Amino acid sequence: MEITMNEATTAHAIGGQACMAAKAAECGMKEKVVLAYSGGLDTSVCLKWLQVECDFDVIAVCGNVGQDENDLAAIRQKALDMGAIASFAVDMREEYANDFLTLALAANGLYENSYPLLSALSRPLLAKHLVEVAHSFGAHYVAHGCTGKGNDQVRFETSIKALDPMLEIVAPVREWNLHSREEEIEWAQAHGVPVAATKKSPYSIDDNLWGRAIECGALEDPWCEPPADIWTLTADSTCAPDEPEYVEIGFEQGVPCSLDGVKMPFVDIVKTLNVKAGAHGVGRLDMVENRLVGVKSRECYEVPAAKVLIDAHKALETLCLDGDTQHYKLGIEQQWATAVYQGMWFSPLKMALDSFCAATQHFVTGVVKMRLYKGSCSVTGRKSPYSLYDFGLASYGAADAFNHGAAKGFIELHGLPVTTWSAKQGPAAEELASQAAFAGEKKAVICAA
Ligand code: ARG
Repeated sequence: MEITMNEATTAHAIGGQACMAAKAAECGMKEKVVLAYSGGLDTSVCLKWLQVECDFDVIAVCGNVGQDENDLAAIRQKALDMGAIASFAVDMREEYANDFLTLALAANGLYENSYPLLSALSRPLLAKHLVEVAHSFGAHYVAHGCTGKGNDQVRFETSIKALDPMLEIVAPVREWNLHSREEEIEWAQAHGVPVAATKKSPYSIDDNLWGRAIECGALEDPWCEPPADIWTLTADSTCAPDEPEYVEIGFEQGVPCSLDGVKMPFVDIVKTLNVKAGAHGVGRLDMVENRLVGVKSRECYEVPAAKVLIDAHKALETLCLDGDTQHYKLGIEQQWATAVYQGMWFSPLKMALDSFCAATQHFVTGVVKMRLYKGSCSVTGRKSPYSLYDFGLASYGAADAFNHGAAKGFIELHGLPVTTWSAKQGPAAEELASQAAFAGEKKAVICAA
């Protein structure tokens, strides 16, 4: 049997994949592909395209990582209705919080010092589940609906390669010949893929427990102020309550474990803070970031819980980490964020950086008090049983126990290298040289006279 490829929709034969699928078809059984499926138009067209163009049996996997669109039963059914041989809706929220967000918090993970990496953190988790399903079905292929211009394709594929290099990856959106949304809808309608009647938002949205990313539409002009309609998790600060609200976040070994004194699973703390801090307009970001594929892109984010938790965690670290570790960790944090942004979740470097961060968290236990008010969240208090803050050493009052006399000798030795440098090469040496030159000139003038 020959595999049929529709030339109108297939830019070029997807060589190996088509061959393998055709071979399997000859043997009377189809190759299986596991598709990362969201239920939206792109991945629905992918699901059909993989059947029509590549003759695959498709297994759909939809992960619940806390996104807004969470009628998972309906999404699961939609895949089956379109001919998927199996369809899974997996609740990954706890795993996401416990195995991914805890590490992100330990590393205070902020790409380019701002973006809490919400999309970058969810892709390796989804990839892990795709690989597991592929193994359980004996599938040789995994597919995703990412475009060729974004970071997410890289994150999916590097994660899959790290977990099972033998799996082949199919990226229909990168391969097909559908150049516009209109063409995609036309293809969908011609192939019985349901198209939602609702008007599509001009923005590309990705969301999960760690926040919401908004790009495209009017945002493509970096000078254009974000239109009010892009924000859904956060209130505009001008409409936020006139009274500040305080929250106390308890941490144990770097992991949030209570809110206002009430013990809570981390995942629930994240959910609660998204609502609480979002109501005060906390966590809006508007930035131009450097994508992995070399493009600068303007992105807006809403990250209420991530903003509060990272700020609180950093504040607790200032009490509980010694200065050298705290300073060294700043560089590690940047490397961690860059590695994760670049799709290297499952990589030796990123895992080694995790080990470093984990080693720093043993004493990061305590409570941080945060004030939420009109778009800002500020740390107003922090305490820890392991605090390295010593009142007697810090106080300028009567309790002062610092040895002022020891400072003189300390500064003499601390300053010795610059004192030496100054004398030999720096300002003191220059001064000496100019004095010598001046004396030489004077001598010459006297001799001449
Ligand atoms: N720029 C962000 C990142 O690379 C967000 C990507 C959002 N993805 C999306 N499909 N809208 O992590």
